[in-house]
Amino acid sequence: MTILVTGGAGYIGSHTCVELLNKGYDIIVADNFSNSHPESLKRAAELTGRLFRVVQLDLQDKCQVEELFSENEIESVIHFAAFKAVGESMKNPLKYYQNNLAGTMVLLEAMDRFNVKKLVFSSSATVYGKEADIPIAEKEEIGAANPYGRTKQMIEEMLNDLFQSDPKWSIAVLRYFNPIGAHKSGRIGEDPSGIPNNLLPYIAQVAIGRRDQLIIHGDDYETKDGTGIRDYIHVVDLAKGHLKALEKISYTPIYETYNLGTGKGYSVLEVVEAFQRACGRPIPYTIGTRRAGDSAVCYADATKAKNELNWAAAIEIDEMCEDIWRWQQQNPEGYASVEETAGVKEATGA
Ligand code: WQD
Repeated sequence: MTILVTGGAGYIGSHTCVELLNKGYDIIVADNFSNSHPESLKRAAELTGRLFRVVQLDLQDKCQVEELFSENEIESVIHFAAFKAVGESMKNPLKYYQNNLAGTMVLLEAMDRFNVKKLVFSSSATVYGKEADIPIAEKEEIGAANPYGRTKQMIEEMLNDLFQSDPKWSIAVLRYFNPIGAHKSGRIGEDPSGIPNNLLPYIAQVAIGRRDQLIIHGDDYETKDGTGIRDYIHVVDLAKGHLKALEKISYTPIYETYNLGTGKGYSVLEVVEAFQRACGRPIPYTIGTRRAGDSAVCYADATKAKNELNWAAAIEIDEMCEDIWRWQQQNPEGYASVEETAGVKEATGA
């Protein structure tokens, strides 16, 4: 039996594929490579010594998705495929609703048709409203403040309705806080296209010399040093949380939501200091104005995942920064520095 990983060529997807393969799972990756690079999968095969199928498809293509299910014995699905840039979603909401919602609905309809009813869904802490108590627990009020977050919120509601309508479904919804870091080898990592929206890839590009300086979005928040506080979690810890969720849904039908965070918050300035320790060079920055939509403090109450998934993040902030730096040094231009890899098929045995 096989695990279908949608969006498996992406940052979190590729790290989860490595953990799945190392654990002995057979996987199939479906990805349209709109925001990811086939090279990440070639490297996942190299890192694990495992071959796996890769199918380039868009989840909105109903025929291709149904063919995928009819041709393969799929046991469960881990669904990563989505657009995920908050700022872009505010400029182009329809692109996000169309891609994230329609793609998910085609996937769920195919799963239902082929009686594949075990799902781990990639959600986000961005679904929580601004009024949520800190640390944020799963029971907190939901109220996404941007179209990207609203697509995640709507899909969560879809999944709950599905479970209520047919208790044969078994669904784990994972709300990520701030995923950062890279595989220890430096061979796979976060490779944003264009100017990074998120803090760590931006800092890494300053450190490697691709960007002149970091602009810190405001230092007048009610925090220890005035800069925003977030719950940064290593992408490998996050990936391991998916394997725990996969086990959990295989025992008995559930619909449960879990925060995947460390339960600790670090300010922007603390992260800059940690990255300077990791790379051994100064990170130049200036203080800019607050970024619209940002909150002052956001970090997880991660006790539910600890108690029910027997999972907890283990990697600390300095090691997260060291792993990012190793990836950035080995891949100054991300995967783009690699010739277009026609070789995905032979490397992954597709
Ligand atoms: C972190 C902190 C910024 C960039 C986002 C999405 C969320 C999730 C994770 C998908 C904040 C500050 C950042 C910069 C800065 N993604 N910052 N200068 O906004 O907490 O969460 O990514 O699920 O949906 O909202 O992450 O990395 O953008 O910002 O000062 O150039 O760094 O103000 O305090 P965020 P981030």
